[in-house]
Amino acid sequence: MLTKIFSLKQESPGALESILRSSLALKHQVARCGWASQALDTPYVVFQIFFEPSTRTRVSFETAAQRLGLRHSYFQMDGFTSISKGESLADSLRVFEMNHPDLLIIRSGEHMEIEEFYQNTSIPIICAGYGERYHPTQAFLDLVTVMEYKDTDSVSGLKLLFVGDVKHSRVAHSHSELAQKLGYELGQCSEPTHWSAEPHWNKFSKLNEAMDWADVVIRLRTQKERGATQVSQDYKITRQLLEAHNLPLMHPGPFLRNEDFEFDLAEHKNSLIWKQKENGHYVRAFLMRALLTKENV
Ligand code: CP
Repeated sequence: MLTKIFSLKQESPGALESILRSSLALKHQVARCGWASQALDTPYVVFQIFFEPSTRTRVSFETAAQRLGLRHSYFQMDGFTSISKGESLADSLRVFEMNHPDLLIIRSGEHMEIEEFYQNTSIPIICAGYGERYHPTQAFLDLVTVMEYKDTDSVSGLKLLFVGDVKHSRVAHSHSELAQKLGYELGQCSEPTHWSAEPHWNKFSKLNEAMDWADVVIRLRTQKERGATQVSQDYKITRQLLEAHNLPLMHPGPFLRNEDFEFDLAEHKNSLIWKQKENGHYVRAFLMRALLTKENV
């Protein structure tokens, strides 16, 4: 039974595969029967607590919560709570806990108090981004998008190439955990200064060679807010490269047109970028439902 979505190291491959397949199944069921078929009978209370900015993740959790008939509150933590009056992070989190929500969704930087809270709270909890380390729901929705595109129910054996700032990417790090469980391969392409140090990543410094190797290309933004230096324009995805290799193009967002890829590539026929944004709310709806109803996955 799932109670926490944070690091995925402890989850079994079977449970992780089930999350991916069930999220896609939910999408198909909504297409056939509408969202009304998914609404929960109990009006569970969900708190979304965000210490860092977000558009995609916040909107997709909120929309999914509304579709499921949940009572949802969003708390913006930067400067708008009693932390700005000197209350400790741990005490602030305890205030949320003592209001007994049925589910917590938290985005934050890496703080020991928050990591301890993830470990110790008895309330079901979903990580919506944790510093450079975890963004599990983004990694799930990436894989669901790949499975949908490839019309397959497994990602085993696929080669996912990440281009850009892998070192500072929490999305890439969640994929690192998942790839080892689900049997897909990871490649990284950028200057070595932006590589992940983890040994299981295939390393490329030439984009053309990397795209020859890959089944899917995922461009990442330079994480300047985490101290990264700008990734070279040699790693910008161009129309010519995308068409020569005929690869699907993905990006977790936010993406910078003209910096991460040529301006209109998000709208190219090979782009799955907007499909990723759409799939976010099916994956997050499935996870919220599973944690709230203690569904077996
Ligand atoms: N991919 C992602 O987490 O985007 P947001 O920061 O907009 O939520």
